[in-house]
Amino acid sequence: MRAPLLKASPPHGDGVTGGKVLITGIDGYSGWPLALHLLARGHEVVGVDNFVTRKRVREVGSWSATPIPPFARRQAAVKALLGKEIGFHRGDLANFEFVRRVLEVERPETIVHLAEQRSAPYSMIDVHHAVDTQVGNLTGTLHLLYAMREIVPSAHLVKMGTMGEYGTPNVDIPEGFFEIDYRGRQDRLPFPRQAGSWYHWSKVFDSGDVMFASRIWKLRATDVMQGVIYGIRTPEIADDRLLTRFDFDETWGTSLNRFIAQAVLGLPITPYGRGDQRRGFIALEDSMQSLRIAVEQPAAAGEYRVLNQFDAAYSVNELAELTARVAGEFGLRPTIEHPPNPRTEAEAHYYHPIHDQLATLGYRRTRELEDVVRVIFRDLQRFRRRLEARRHVVMPAVQWGSTDSRHALAARAPSSPAGPPTVPPADDRPEHSLA
Ligand SMILES: NC(=O)c1ccc[n+]([C@@H]2O[C@H](COP(=O)([O-])OP(=O)(O)OC[C@H]3O[C@@H](n4cnc5c(N)ncnc54)[C@H](O)[C@@H]3O)[C@@H](O)[C@H]2O)c1
Repeated sequence: MRAPLLKASPPHGDGVTGGKVLITGIDGYSGWPLALHLLARGHEVVGVDNFVTRKRVREVGSWSATPIPPFARRQAAVKALLGKEIGFHRGDLANFEFVRRVLEVERPETIVHLAEQRSAPYSMIDVHHAVDTQVGNLTGTLHLLYAMREIVPSAHLVKMGTMGEYGTPNVDIPEGFFEIDYRGRQDRLPFPRQAGSWYHWSKVFDSGDVMFASRIWKLRATDVMQGVIYGIRTPEIADDRLLTRFDFDETWGTSLNRFIAQAVLGLPITPYGRGDQRRGFIALEDSMQSLRIAVEQPAAAGEYRVLNQFDAAYSVNELAELTARVAGEFGLRPTIEHPPNPRTEAEAHYYHPIHDQLATLGYRRTRELEDVVRVIFRDLQRFRRRLEARRHVVMPAVQWGSTDSRHALAARAPSSPAGPPTVPPADDRPEHSLA
C-alpha cells in the first residue's frame, strides 16, 4: 500500500528555541502531554498516530473517563489556547513507506517512539492479541530504525520501554547493564529480562533491536524503562480541551486507575491476590520532565543509553490503602477486597531497582502520589457519568493461565444492580470518534 503524499508540518510563527521532535503515538495517554510540554519548551512538534488505542479500548467495551475529542479538535484547541501548531501525519508504523516519507518530509532531530500496544492484559486475551502485540510493536520499531538509518542517521531515538521488562528478580535491578564476574571472567552485560506478559516480552525484544541497531549503525538511542505513570494533569493541561486519557477498565487501566474508579463508583477496591506485588511509579508531569530531559540531552552517536524512569515503588496494597484514604476526603468509604489474581506473577517479592541516571541529568521529582490521586478524584467527580456507563468493565476477565479469554470478555455482564450500561446523558454523549 502506498502512503498518502505528505506535506511538511507548518513551522511555528513564534520563534522556536528547541529542535524538531517527532512523537509517534501523539494521540495517546503520554504522547499528548509530551507534545504540549515540548511545545511549551519551544520545540517544534510533529506527531504520528493511527488512533488504534481508541479502537482497541472500544473493542473491550470501554472508553476513557476523560472525554478525548478527535485529533483535529485537539490540534485546534492547542492553536486557540497556546497559539501553537502541532504537525500531524495519520498513518500506521506497520507501513514502511509511510514511516520513510514522514522522516523524509519532517527530518526530525529527535524521535520519541511511543506508538505501541501497551496493555499486558490485552496481549494475554488470546493468540491473535499476542501476535498482534508482538508483531505490531516489533515491526513499528524496526521500521523506524531502518528509516532513521537511511534518512536521519544522526537523529536521537527516545524509545519507551518499561520497567516490566526486568520482572521481579531477587537482586537489585541496575539501569540496563551490570558487571558480572563468572567463572573467573568479567563482563558488562545487559541485565537479564524476565517479562511477565506477551506485551512485556515485546518490549524486551524491542530493547534488543534498538541496542543492536545503535551498535551496527552508530545510531543515538535512549531506551526508557518507564515505570507506571499516574495522573491526568500537567502544567500545560489547564483546560479540559487539553485533557489526556484516563483508562479504568481491567484491560487498559492501571491498578491505581481502577482503584480510583472503583472508589468513585462505590465499588470495593480490589488488589489482585495477596497484594504485595511492587512496581515503580512516576507522576505524568515528572515522566514528561524526564522525557524532555532525554530529548534535550541526547545520547552520543552509537550510544545505547538505558534510563530507569520511576520515582518510588509501591505495592498494590499500598495503592489500595492510599486510594481508600483519599476517597474518604471526598465522602467515599470504599472497602478493600482481594479477588483471585488473574495474572501469573509473584505476589510477594524483593524489588529494588536503581534509578540514578536521570538525577545526574538534572531530573528532580516534583509530584507526590497522594497529591496527584487527590487531583484525579477531583477530576473524576466531573466525569462520573462516563465511569457509571462502563462500570461493568473494571473487574478482570482476562486470565493469564487461559489461552482464550475472549468468551470471558464477551460475557462480561454489567454487574451493577442498576442494570446494563446506560447511554450517557446528552451533554456527555460522545461523537463517533470520542474515546
Ligand atoms: N502509560 C504507562 O504507564 C506506561 C508505562 C510503561 C511503558 N509505557 C509505554 O509508553 C508508550 C506509550 O504508552 P501510552 O500509555 O501513551 O499508550 P497509548 O496506547 O495511550 O498511546 C499509544 C499511541 O500510539 C498509537 N499507536 C499504536 N500503534 C501504532 C501504530 N502501529 N502506528 C501508529 N500509531 C500507533 C495509538 O493509537 C496511541 O495513540 C508505550 O510504548 C507503552 O508501552 C507506558
